[in-house]
Amino acid sequence: MTSQTFGQTFQIGRSLLLFALAIFSTIFAIGCGGGEHRGPGDQHSVMDQIAVESKPNNNAGLSSERWLEGVVYERVEGMNLDNLDTFFVEHRTEKIERFNCSECHSEPLSAMKSPDTGKVRAHWEVELHHASADVMNCQTCHSADAMDSVQLIGGHRLSLNQSYRLCAQCHSTQAADWVGGAHGKRRGGWAPPRVVANCASCHNPHDPGFPTRFPAQVSRVD
Ligand code: HEC
Ligand code: HEC
Ligand code: HEC
Ligand code: HEC
Repeated sequence: MTSQTFGQTFQIGRSLLLFALAIFSTIFAIGCGGGEHRGPGDQHSVMDQIAVESKPNNNAGLSSERWLEGVVYERVEGMNLDNLDTFFVEHRTEKIERFNCSECHSEPLSAMKSPDTGKVRAHWEVELHHASADVMNCQTCHSADAMDSVQLIGGHRLSLNQSYRLCAQCHSTQAADWVGGAHGKRRGGWAPPRVVANCASCHNPHDPGFPTRFPAQVSRVD
C-alpha cells in the first residue's frame, strides 16, 4: 500500500467514523429527549417506565355494545365525576307502568286531590315503607305540579331516569360506592361503555329494603 492510498483509506475511514458518531448521537438525543416518543425499552427510571406503560390502549378495540342490545341508557350527571364521558346509567321511564304521569297529572296535585279523605286513593297500592313520615312524604320526591319529574330537596327537577341523584342526597355512602362500582350492577360486559343499573332498578323507592331471606331448606341431623 502506497502512502497515498493509505491516506485516502484513512480519509474514508475517518468520515465513516464521524458519520457513525453523528447517527449514534442523534439516536441518543432522541432516546433521552422526546419523552412521548420513547419505546418501553428506553426509560431511565421507574417513573419514566410507568409514564410510558400507562398510555391509554383503547381496550384493544373491545366493546360491550353487543351485550347492551335493548338497554336504553344515558350519561350519569351531577355526581362530581372526572370521567363523565364514559359512565352511563340505564333508563327507568320505559319500565314505569304509569309513565307518562302527565297523562293524568295535567294539573297541580292540589286541584286533583279530593278533599274527601274517605275516598279511595288513585295510587292505593303505593304505601311508603321508607323513612319515617316526619322525614318523608310523596312530595319529598315527586313534584306536585310536574309529575313527570322527581325533585331534589332544594326543588331542582330531574327526569325519572336521574332518580339516582334523588337517592344520593340522603344515601351518600351507597351513592359513592355505586359510582366506584362497589354497590349495584354493571350491565353488558366489562369493556366500555360502562353502563350500570339505576338505584330504582333494584330498590322500590317506596319500600327500598329487601326482605330477609332464609335458605329454603335447612339440613337437619335427627
Ligand atoms: C290514570 C291516571 C294517573 C296516572 C297515569 C298517574 N296518576 Fe298519580 N294520581 C292520580 C290521581 C287522580 C291522583 C289524585 C287523587 C289521589 O290522591 O288519589 C293522583 C295522585 C298522585 C300523588 C299524590 C298522592 C298523595 O297521596 O298525596 C302522587 C305522588 C302521584 N299521583 C304520583 C304519580 C306518578 C309519579 C305518576 C307517573 C309515574 C302518576 N302519579 C301517574 C292519577 C294518576
Ligand atoms: C324516596 C322518594 C319517593 C317517595 C317518598 C315517593 N316516591 Fe313515588 N317514585 C319515586 C321514584 C324514584 C319513582 C320511579 C321508580 C322507578 O324508576 O321505577 C316513583 C314512582 C312512582 C309511581 C309510578 C309507579 C309505577 O310503576 O307506575 C307512582 C304512582 C308513585 N311513585 C306514587 C307515589 C306516591 C303516591 C307516594 C307517596 C305515598 C310516593 N310515590 C312517594 C320516588 C318516590
Ligand atoms: C329524604 C332522604 C331520603 C331519600 C331522598 C331517600 N332515602 Fe332511603 N332512607 C332514608 C332514611 C331516613 C332511611 C331509614 C334509615 C334507617 O331506618 O336506618 C332510608 C332507608 C333506605 C334503605 C334501607 C331500607 C331497609 O329496610 O334497610 C334503602 C335500601 C334506601 N333507603 C334506598 C333509597 C333509594 C333507592 C332512594 C332513591 C329512590 C332513597 N332511598 C331515597 C332517607 C332517604
Ligand atoms: C343491582 C341492584 C342494586 C342497585 C343498582 C343498588 N342497590 Fe342498594 N342494595 C342492593 C342490595 C342487594 C342491598 C343489600 C340489602 C340487604 O342487605 O338486605 C342494598 C342495600 C342498600 C342500602 C341499605 C344499606 C346497606 O348498605 O346495606 C341502601 C341505603 C342502598 N342500597 C341504597 C342504594 C342507592 C342509593 C343506590 C343507587 C345509587 C343503590 N342502592 C343501587 C342492591 C342494589
